[in-house]
Amino acid sequence: MTAQIHVLSDPDTLAVAVADWLVGRMRGTSKPFSMNLSGGSTPKRLYGLLAQAPYRDQIEWQRLHLFFGDERYVPHDDPESNYRMVHDALIAHVPLPAENVHPIPAGPSPAEAAAAYEAKLKNFYGADHLDPSRPLFDVSLLGLGPDGHTASLFPGSSALEEKQAWVLSVIGSKPPPQRITLTLPVLDSCAAAAFIVSGSEKEPIVQRLLGGDKALPAGRISPLGELHWFLDEAAAGGPAGP
Ligand code: 6PG
Repeated sequence: MTAQIHVLSDPDTLAVAVADWLVGRMRGTSKPFSMNLSGGSTPKRLYGLLAQAPYRDQIEWQRLHLFFGDERYVPHDDPESNYRMVHDALIAHVPLPAENVHPIPAGPSPAEAAAAYEAKLKNFYGADHLDPSRPLFDVSLLGLGPDGHTASLFPGSSALEEKQAWVLSVIGSKPPPQRITLTLPVLDSCAAAAFIVSGSEKEPIVQRLLGGDKALPAGRISPLGELHWFLDEAAAGGPAGP
């Protein structure tokens, strides 16, 4: 599958492009729509946009299920929590049924939180093994670190080679270090994966990835369906080509 590259002029138009893309993908179905969210700071603008008109009124919230691609192992009310970031930017402002929000547990231990989330994903999917003909997620929304990490899959991590477990507890090189992450087979089990990347500090790693560097964690993402890169010009190193 060839990646589709979308270059937008700035972070605001980047967020609008991703919001339009997401609403368009939801419009194509009447089934439950499951989205695996990225943490970090980049998607916060997008989540805030979805919480406002016109997107708030275009989305059928009762069909939408929100999962998390990774989480810092902190309480959900911790300022470092990805759940808290999504809750404050989006969940608190939209009529999303509580049962449609699936945070990664914050206890009782990292290993138990990972196991509990794996069980939740398998229950939602309805099977213990991923079927390549039936994606778990409609969309996997992914961030990108300047070292090429995505979710909490960091360069050199043994988690990158995991083929059986769906969710792992890991120590990451981005603080806070104790994290819970979905593994590559699960992140890839989607109809469409979309990286959303902003800022000039990401430009070098974006160039390596778009140049085909499969050694980086983000370069290992290979979705069942479509792969999209949503970049602002700063991250892309300039305007889109002709
Ligand atoms: C996290 C994210 C992580 C993030 C990248 C980019 O928990 O931090 O899952 O993978 O997406 O580090 O972070 P920024 O968007 O803040 O640059």
